[in-house]
Amino acid sequence: MDNRSLITLAEHSREKLLYLIEMAQEFEKHPNRRLLEGRIAATLFFEPSTRTRLSFETAANRLGAKVIGFADPKVTSGTKGEILKDTIKMVSNYADIIIMRHYLEGAAKYASEVTRIPILNAGDGANQHPSQTMLDLYTIYQSQGTLENLNIYLVGDLKYGRTVHSLLTAMRHFNPTFHFIAPDELAMPEHYKQYCKDNGIKYHEYKEFDADVISGADILYMTRVQKERFSDLMEYERVKDAYLLKKDMLVKARPNMKILHPLPRVNEIEYSIDDTPYAYYFQQAQNGLYARQALISDALGITLEDVRNDKTIIG
Ligand code: CP
Repeated sequence: MDNRSLITLAEHSREKLLYLIEMAQEFEKHPNRRLLEGRIAATLFFEPSTRTRLSFETAANRLGAKVIGFADPKVTSGTKGEILKDTIKMVSNYADIIIMRHYLEGAAKYASEVTRIPILNAGDGANQHPSQTMLDLYTIYQSQGTLENLNIYLVGDLKYGRTVHSLLTAMRHFNPTFHFIAPDELAMPEHYKQYCKDNGIKYHEYKEFDADVISGADILYMTRVQKERFSDLMEYERVKDAYLLKKDMLVKARPNMKILHPLPRVNEIEYSIDDTPYAYYFQQAQNGLYARQALISDALGITLEDVRNDKTIIG
């Protein structure tokens, strides 16, 4: 396995996470650079995506790399029976880095074991979504001025939502208190609660979702119910509208509270909330560009010092 692959942030140290945040800050100041001129990034998306694929591709393009890949596996030789291992080996002959989203948990790790070029996990089933977590950490830091000692409320599909699983593991360095708000069917899986216990992370669980419950939030992280992960669509129908954040539920919100959502939203946040000072999800999505510029650069051996000393800034 190439040690520059990013499969999960769980193994990253506190220092490494803060280092990547600093690098992302540099890219926010100046996104247009030629640090990766002559490199090729491949984006292999076996599942649908808007933000992750387009922000990764924008990140590579703004760094001067060229991008190849596919957004839909139906146009690939996978439809003729080619296995993932062969696809990864082939693409490794063409590109310097592979950014991959796959519907199977563990697919990114497997891919990293059959190639020498870095694999960036852009989401593997209901497992992990580390680049989303990197932009979430960046956004939390940007909006709160710290990652330390925050009350983070995770709402909705905590069973299948890979973004909340990734965030929970990455936050272990920063003494968070998590608040899990979900119906029984979508509760945080036991092994993540055990992870909290093993790592001294405080958590509370609720089924109610109202102004009182969320009044202590610094971060209110809403999630979509992941229809694509349900084997029983009747069960999806039962829980799909479980929690909708309404504007009148914000009456007791802390002044610093920010609402995040990895997007796409379906029926989790009333549109009227978009114009309140609490809404931060579009800024969060924009931060995906800077966080992913940092992840691609780091995977290809560009250091924070290289970025700070960069003379290729355009515009
Ligand atoms: N947040 C996220 O992963 O969005 P996409 O599915 O559009 O990439």
